[in-house]
Formats: sequence, C-alpha cells, structure tokens
Amino acid sequence: IGQNIHFYETTPSTQRIAHLLAQQGKPEGTVVFAEEQTEGKGRLDRSWHSPVGAGIWMSIILRPNLPPQHAPQLTLLAAVAIVRAIESELNITCEIKWPNDILINGKKAVGILTELHAEADRINSVIVGIGINVNTTKEEFPSELQHLATSLSLEKGGDKIDRASLARVIFESLEEMYEKYLEHGFTFIKLLWESYSVSIGKQIIARTISGEIRGYARGITDEGVLMIEESDGKIQYIHSADIEL
Ligand code: BTN
Repeated sequence: IGQNIHFYETTPSTQRIAHLLAQQGKPEGTVVFAEEQTEGKGRLDRSWHSPVGAGIWMSIILRPNLPPQHAPQLTLLAAVAIVRAIESELNITCEIKWPNDILINGKKAVGILTELHAEADRINSVIVGIGINVNTTKEEFPSELQHLATSLSLEKGGDKIDRASLARVIFESLEEMYEKYLEHGFTFIKLLWESYSVSIGKQIIARTISGEIRGYARGITDEGVLMIEESDGKIQYIHSADIEL
C-alpha cells in the first residue's frame, strides 16, 4: 500500500479519481493523494471540507477476493489501522464512533468512506477514502463544524505535524492489518474495533432513514453491523445511521 501514489495539487475528489483508476485496472495498493479537494465527499451524501495542505486527503484501491458483504469490514479495518498509527506516531488517544468516525476528545478528526465495485458476487475493487484533519486550524473549519471537528495539530497544542511521515506509518499499519485480515479473518479486527469504540455499552440514538432507534450499543456483527438493544430487550441491527451518544 502506497508504493504507487498519484499526486494531485487540487482535484474535486480523490475518490472519483480512484474509481477511474480502479476501472482502468490499477493494482491493489494504489493511492490517490490530493493537497486540496474542491468537492470532497463524505458519508450519507455529505461534503468533506478539504482545505489546501491541511490534511491527508487520499483514496486507496484494494482488491480483496471476497464477496461484497465483506466490504464494511474493510471500513472498520481502516479505522482500527489509522487509530493505531495515530496513537503510535503522535501519542494521541483516539476513539472510534460507529461505523468509521475517529474522534479525539469527543471531536471528529478522521472520516472514512468505503465504496465498492463488485461483479458476480465478488469484490472487484474497494475504494477506501480517508480524510484526516492533520494541520487544520480552528479558523479553517467552517463555523458550523468548529464544535464538532478537530485536527491532530489542534489536539497537539498547535504543533505542525509532518503529513508525509504520518501517511507512511498509516500505509504500514493498513498493510499489516489487511494482510492479517486476509489470512486470519475479521475476528481480531472486531475485537480491536470494539476496544476503541466510544459507543459499545453506552446508551445511544441511531438516526436511520426509517426513524430513530434508542438503546444500548451491544457490539458489532461479523458483517460490521451495529447491534442496539432496545429497552424491551429486542436487538436491532443497524446498517446505516448517524449515531448520537
Ligand atoms: C465521512 O466521515 O463522512 C467520510 C469522509 C471521507 C473523506 C475522504 S477525503 C479523501 C476521500 N475523497 C473524498 O472525496 N472523500 C474521502
């Protein structure tokens, strides 16, 4: 991962370029990196604020030989790998909010967006989009995000952080987890993910397209689906939602 990097000064979205490169047959591990995105894309059709030089805005092409239902596992894998890289490189404690937000002191510093091409029940490619607010300053966040978002630098008291060396550590961490996952399966990722999770065991509200579900977050399934126990003891399985703690 990261042996082959396509670098852009500015682009609408690295995700879009990675999709094109994947369809052209570029190999697994290919990375698209941009200094700035003008139409950065988030989950649930949101936008992702990607100011020039402030972050790591990148998309990685993976080609696991797996059925498409496994794709959510790769999102959780990426979250765990990034948390471990940030903790070891910068000594900052991170938490994960289902499915893929990385929080520091309760504010979001990293978002992950996984998109999929599948054919005949096999994954052809997965595009793992990673947005890390590295050196974003308080003023660079739009005002509506200031109480919700943070950057690694802000959490380190304003010190500038070297994006290239952090990206290298993230590639190593991702590669290590990914190889282990292909060889041994999802169980160890699931355990690590649950150990970093802010929500497990806590009362949460999941806002889904079909309404709100309240209850205790009990864990994730082998497919990466969130399990919520309602007050009557019934377990709800959440595939896509916004979580409020
Ligand atoms: C989210 O939390 O909503 C996911 C955000 C993902 C942002 C990254 S930045 C690099 C890649 N390109 C995009 O347009 N989006 C992802």
